Formats: sequence, structure tokens, C-alpha cells
Amino acid sequence: MTDLQGKSVIITGGSKGIGRETARLFLQAGASVTITGRSAEALEKARKELEVIGPPVMAVAADVSVETDCRRVVDAVINEHSRIDILVNNAGMSARGRFSESDIGLYRTLLGINFLGPVMMSRFCLDEIRKNMGSIVFISTLAALKGLPGLSHYSSSKMPLTAFSEAIRGELRPEGVHVATIYVGFTDNDPDKTIYDSRGNRIPLIRDRNSLTQQEVASAVISAVYHHRNIVTLSMVGKLASFFYRFFPRLSEAVLARQTLKSRMYKSNT
Ligand SMILES: NC(=O)c1ccc[n+]([C@@H]2O[C@H](COP(=O)([O-])OP(=O)(O)OC[C@H]3O[C@@H](n4cnc5c(N)ncnc54)[C@H](OP(=O)(O)O)[C@@H]3O)[C@@H](O)[C@H]2O)c1
Repeated sequence: MTDLQGKSVIITGGSKGIGRETARLFLQAGASVTITGRSAEALEKARKELEVIGPPVMAVAADVSVETDCRRVVDAVINEHSRIDILVNNAGMSARGRFSESDIGLYRTLLGINFLGPVMMSRFCLDEIRKNMGSIVFISTLAALKGLPGLSHYSSSKMPLTAFSEAIRGELRPEGVHVATIYVGFTDNDPDKTIYDSRGNRIPLIRDRNSLTQQEVASAVISAVYHHRNIVTLSMVGKLASFFYRFFPRLSEAVLARQTLKSRMYKSNT
């Protein structure tokens, strides 16, 4: 078990949604927290909201898909806290739309944010996390368990995190580094949450239903770090989906194709 008191934690995308709630729980557990995000305004709002809990919160405006930004975040945290124990790779963007309507650039953008961003952050934090035998956490999605129709960009940008996390877990476990991947299902979102449409424009997220709260996901992150859990699939829906994808792949694909393509949630222009 990991005592979180005094640990230095970086949460990418900690300015909104699941990341902000995860930051809140780490702060309540006594950790020093750094949050990142692209919008300086959103970061400042979150920083002020989180600081009510007590300890100061560091906020660094940075785009996780930009290598120099990732380096700058890591350097800033080492300068301020002299250590990094835990990295939560949470920053991520989703997209909706059919492949036939999609700009190729959108695949590049999502791979940069959802895959290369976590790879770069993990690489640049690695020496510190190794030294402190800390944790690297990847926030993934049920859409990474199976490629979902209407979500080809999102699924294929998150799925590589599974391979990456498995590979580095094998390399780093002997050195005492814990690597966790959390597969998250539909979660309550901030009212102003945006996703990309198939052309790469940011549009509001419209969704009929969710199966998790942001607090439930944040608790699962803390618990995975605390108990050194490696793979966590959240909610009963997620566990059932995972079972069906594995044992009934053809049936799953047929059901998914029918359900997702008729749902307005998967169209990019709703
Ligand atoms: N919500 C769900 O239903 C759900 C389900 C499964 C998995 N997830 C995963 O959970 C994570 C958080 O999702 P959420 O719903 O909390 O999203 P959110 O409310 O949209 O928040 C996303 C956070 O990531 C930041 N971000 C986005 N792109 C970034 C970039 N290029 N560089 C740095 N920061 C960036 C955002 O700040 P800026 O916009 O200011 O950059 C924001 O702080 C994501 O990885 C997502 O894929 C979410």
C-alpha cells in the first residue's frame, strides 16, 4: 500500500472533469498536486477551487501533445517540489463521426493527445518515479477494449495505451514502479465539455446517459495507486462489455454496429 501523504502527483488534464476530481482526492489524501491543461483560464479556475482544500496547487498550462510542453511541466514540478512520485495520464479528447467523413488530421491529433502525450510524460517523469518507486497511471476507456463504430479516432488513439502500459509494466515492475491502466465508461461530464467532430472542430458533448460519476472514477484512480492495482475496468457495464467482447466477438460487433450507428451520441454533428 502507498501512503499518499507528501507524494508529488502530476495530473494531466487536471483542470476539468475526471482530472479535477482526481486532483481533489489526492489533495485530501495529503499529496502535493500539479495540474495541467491547455486553457490557462480553466486551469486557474480549477486551481482556485482546489486550493480551498488546503495545500497550494501548482498549475502549468501545457499541451500534452507537444514535447517541449511536457518537458516544461516536468521541470517545473521538479523545481517546485524536488520530486515526482505519481503521474496520472488523464488529459484526453474524444471525437465522434464516421470514418468516411473524417479528416486524416484528426487521427494525428488524437494520437498526439491520447497516446504520444502519455508516452512523453511517462518518459520525462521516469527517472523521478523510478527513484521514488512510484506509480504511472493511464486513464483509458471502454472504447479501447474494442474498436467502436463512430469512434474510430478515439478507439484507435486509446487502444495503443494498453500495449504501451503492458510493455512498460513488465520492464519497470522489477524496479518497484507501479503501472496502472483504468478503463473508464461513460462518466458524468462538466456542462461545457467539448469533443471533436469528424472535421476536427470542437463541439459540445451530447449524451443520453452515463454509468459513472467523476468522483467514482477519481476514487478508482486513488485506490489503484494505493493498492498497486494494475488493470481496473470500471462499472458493471464495463465488466459485462469486456466479457462479451472477449468471448462473443462476432455477436458483440453486430450488436455494437446496430446500436452505435443509430444512436445520436455517435454522430459528429448532433
Ligand atoms: N468522460 C467520460 O465519459 C470518459 C469515458 C472514458 C474515458 N474518459 C477519459 O478520461 C479522461 C478525462 O475525461 P473527461 O471526461 O474528464 O474530459 P474533460 O472534462 O474534457 O477534461 C479533459 C481534460 O484534459 C485536458 N486536455 C485535453 N486535451 C489536452 C491537451 N492536448 N493537452 C493538455 N491537456 C488537455 C482538458 O483541458 P484543456 O481543454 O484546457 O486542454 C481537461 O483538463 C480522458 O482521457 C478521457 O478520454 C472519459
